[in-house]
Amino acid sequence: MTTPQPERTLVLVKPDGVARRLTGEVLRRIEAKGYSIVALEQRIVGADLLAQHYAEHEGKPFFQPLVDFMMSGPVVAAVVEGHRAIEGFRSLAGTTDPTTAAPGTIRGDLGRDWGTAVVQNLVHGSDSPESAAREIGLWFPRL
Ligand code: PPS
Repeated sequence: MTTPQPERTLVLVKPDGVARRLTGEVLRRIEAKGYSIVALEQRIVGADLLAQHYAEHEGKPFFQPLVDFMMSGPVVAAVVEGHRAIEGFRSLAGTTDPTTAAPGTIRGDLGRDWGTAVVQNLVHGSDSPESAAREIGLWFPRL
């Protein structure tokens, strides 16, 4: 029998999620799915960390608005662990646009378009093992 390989992903509750008191609901869904939260911290984030975090999107029109939005209030960062946790959390989160994200997902159930230029979609989850390792190293360097 093969041993399940735990996988780690970086989850962020973005400033809109924290401001709307949805941190507990996001963490509840992660735990209800069966994943473990192995690190958790609320913090105000600086431009340097965000520039590194979103480096692959530098030059895209939404880059600076997204960085500004991520600095607009506290963010909750979590390292979530479990077999296939990266794709599992992205499935829990739903697609990028909260207006059309599937009902049953975090963005689909709890998010909407507020008419702002920046997409406020509540959460972030790493999109690959390489991104997860890089992002966890940035947000939790001592882990
Ligand atoms: S792309 O271009 O296909 O890579 O974009 P996508 O994967 O959908 O999104 C990458 C991250 O950028 C965020 N995003 C935005 N934020 C604010 N405003 C706009 N218009 C916007 N478009 C994309 C999207 O939520 C992703 O961020 P994270 O933190 O990973 O969710």
